[in-house]
Amino acid sequence: MMKVLHIDSSPMLRSSSSRKLSQALTDAICLRYPDATVTHRDLGRNPPPHLREETFLTLTGKIDAPDDRTRKEVSDIHDAIRELNECDVLVIGAPMINHSVSSALKTWIDQVCQARLTFRFTPEGAQGLVKDKPTFIVSTRGGVYSSEEHRVMDHQESYLISTLKLMGIEDVHVLPAEGVDKTHPGREQAENSALAQIPDLLSYAFTEHDVAVN
Ligand SMILES: Cc1cc2nc3c(=O)[nH]c(=O)nc-3n(C[C@H](O)[C@H](O)[C@H](O)COP(=O)(O)O)c2cc1C
Repeated sequence: MMKVLHIDSSPMLRSSSSRKLSQALTDAICLRYPDATVTHRDLGRNPPPHLREETFLTLTGKIDAPDDRTRKEVSDIHDAIRELNECDVLVIGAPMINHSVSSALKTWIDQVCQARLTFRFTPEGAQGLVKDKPTFIVSTRGGVYSSEEHRVMDHQESYLISTLKLMGIEDVHVLPAEGVDKTHPGREQAENSALAQIPDLLSYAFTEHDVAVN
């Protein structure tokens, strides 16, 4: 049975482009694999707490008797890492916020990107410990960054791709929607153009690569 982890991270809970597109992409995956099960983690609605020193020290075994708040945060981190390890397909709705990802998605990355748990340092460099899997970044932006001039300001896709790679996830596919700001006249057109790309994106991702289902 294929397990899909569907993450949303927009702070906008109503009329959100990244939510609309990540849902359409997840629905299309389920249509293709009718036995797929979906876990939806809504980081925009329930942002994880910022990583604290006590939490980090407990996680790394340097504090053995944490207080209740820390114990809960460590347990949530282990849950988030388990979800990431156990899924066969990952879908991340990721709007650009101030040239990067939303703070909720950043705090999730700070939860799951942990030395010894999801990657380790070796003499040859960092090695990812998470099984590679088809991963879809639904990348929405109010502006347009695909041009040479503006690419340098994109710390959203590049940041996500490099942190996923650190953990071992390299089979990454981006569904882009640029110009989707609420006031942008081309918003609907950008959303429709992203929706139209979904079939080809899935065909490419799932036929070029074998999907190892647990
Ligand atoms: C606080 C804030 C900061 C934003 N910063 C940027 C930005 O730096 N560059 C950009 O192109 N769009 C920016 N946007 C526009 C969002 O990227 C766009 O509205 C979003 O991708 C649409 O997805 P959503 O509706 O799911 O939130 C920002 C929006 C908000 C609310």
